[in-house]
Parts: sequence; structure tokens; C-alpha cells
Amino acid sequence: MKVFQIGAAGGVGRRLTRLLAERGDEVTGMYRKPDQAEAVRAAGATPLPADLIADSVEELAAKMAGHDAVVFSAGAHGTGMDQTTLIDGEGLAKAADAAVRAGVSRFVLVSVFPEAGRDRAPSEGFEHYMRVKKTADVYLTGTDLDWVIVRPGTLVDEPGTGRVTAGWAIEYGTVPRDDVAAFLAAALHETALSRAIVELTGGDTPVADAAARLIR
Ligand SMILES: NC(=O)c1ccc[n+]([C@@H]2O[C@H](COP(=O)([O-])OP(=O)(O)OC[C@H]3O[C@@H](n4cnc5c(N)ncnc54)[C@H](OP(=O)(O)O)[C@@H]3O)[C@@H](O)[C@H]2O)c1
Repeated sequence: MKVFQIGAAGGVGRRLTRLLAERGDEVTGMYRKPDQAEAVRAAGATPLPADLIADSVEELAAKMAGHDAVVFSAGAHGTGMDQTTLIDGEGLAKAADAAVRAGVSRFVLVSVFPEAGRDRAPSEGFEHYMRVKKTADVYLTGTDLDWVIVRPGTLVDEPGTGRVTAGWAIEYGTVPRDDVAAFLAAALHETALSRAIVELTGGDTPVADAAARLIR
């Protein structure tokens, strides 16, 4: 599969690149800072400079053309509400529009678990982030793309276990970035999983089984 990864230099993104490359996918890794190109290449992707804010839909579509799927794991990562709007919100909408224009139907989006942060005092920035993520989900579900939205619990950098809980509605929890990447790789290739929103946390089910069970 030819995969166009948006957010390839990120915590989830670079883990996902490695897994996709290992399974034989041809990966284009979109990054925006020049010094990230080598890391993207080292993970196994062909690095492609692009920017969700600066690039137009037409420019993004031209870069996506010829791929079989897009995986979007970009995010503003706490750099401010304006950036969250531009990257997680408008950036996702642009990427989805570009995929439509480029004829790349399969589109996997990393969103956020709806109960994230409910155990903390609300902050304006986090509430904004949650609203923007939801609006991005709404946008993607309104397209005719072959979308899958994955809503992971709080991401941690502990080593993955290769086991998760994935379902339409599950209890909130944390999940290692390693395991999110492994689930994304499995879900991307589980093509019968389509137009579905999946909640994801650490758990007991081997990742490949967790993805396959969703389509039974
Ligand atoms: N943190 C959590 O607990 C949590 C929980 C659930 C879901 N999520 C979501 O999971 C996703 C992946 O998380 P992560 O840890 O992998 O995030 P990350 O390490 O911050 O990676 C995000 C990537 O997006 C890239 N990006 C940002 N703006 C861009 C732009 N304008 N154009 C192109 N690329 C851009 C970043 O590049 P730069 O280095 O250039 O900024 C970075 O490589 C995010 O969407 C996040 O919202 C996070």
C-alpha cells in the first residue's frame, strides 16, 4: 500500500512509519521542519516537506496524488489555541479536502478519546483542543472518504505491550504510542473497517485481533 503520512516526524508518526515500512508499505512521510527529514527517512519513509498551514488544498492534493491512503496524526501539541485551530482543525479539513481532490479514499485520523482530561480541572486550552478535535471528526465523517477515526486515550511513551482494548465505546485509559501506531497499521490494512470511530486504550487483546474483531 502507498501511504501518505501527515505528522510523520511526530511521536506516533515515526513509530507508525517503522511498522508500515516493515510490513512492506511504501510510505511518504510529510514533515515541516527541515531538520526532521533525516529522521523521517531513517524510520523508513520518503520524506516530503509540506505544511498544513502554508500549503493550499491544491498543493496538498498534488503531493498526495498516487497514494492509496492517508494517515493523519499531526497536531499542535500544546503550542496554543490558534495553532490547534489551524493544525488539528483546519489542517484536518484541508487534508481531507485534498484527499478527495487527489482521489485517495482511505483516510485514517488520529483523534482523541472523548473522556480525556475529565479527571483534571478544565483549562481553556484543553477545552478548545477537545472542541477542535470533535469538529475535525465531524468534518471527516461528512466526507465521502473511506475514513476511520481512532480516538486513543492519553498517550504515554512507555514501551508498547502489543495489546490494546479497541471498541466503539470503551472505558477511558492510557495507551502507549507504540501500541497506537501498531493499531493504526493494523486498522489501515483492515479495509473492511470503514466509516467507523474506534476508541482505543491499553488492554489485553493482541493488536491485530483487536482490529479484526471490529469487523466481525
Ligand atoms: N497527547 C495525548 O495524550 C493525546 C491523546 C490522544 C490523541 N492525541 C493526538 O494524537 C496525535 C499524535 O500525537 P503525537 O504524540 O504523535 O503528536 P506529536 O509528536 O506532536 O506529532 C505531531 C506531528 O504533527 C506535525 N505538525 C504540526 N503542525 C504541522 C503542520 N502545520 N504541517 C505538517 N505537520 C505538522 C508536527 O510537526 P512539528 O514538529 O513541525 O510541529 C509533529 O511531527 C495528535 O493529533 C494528538 O492530538 C494526543
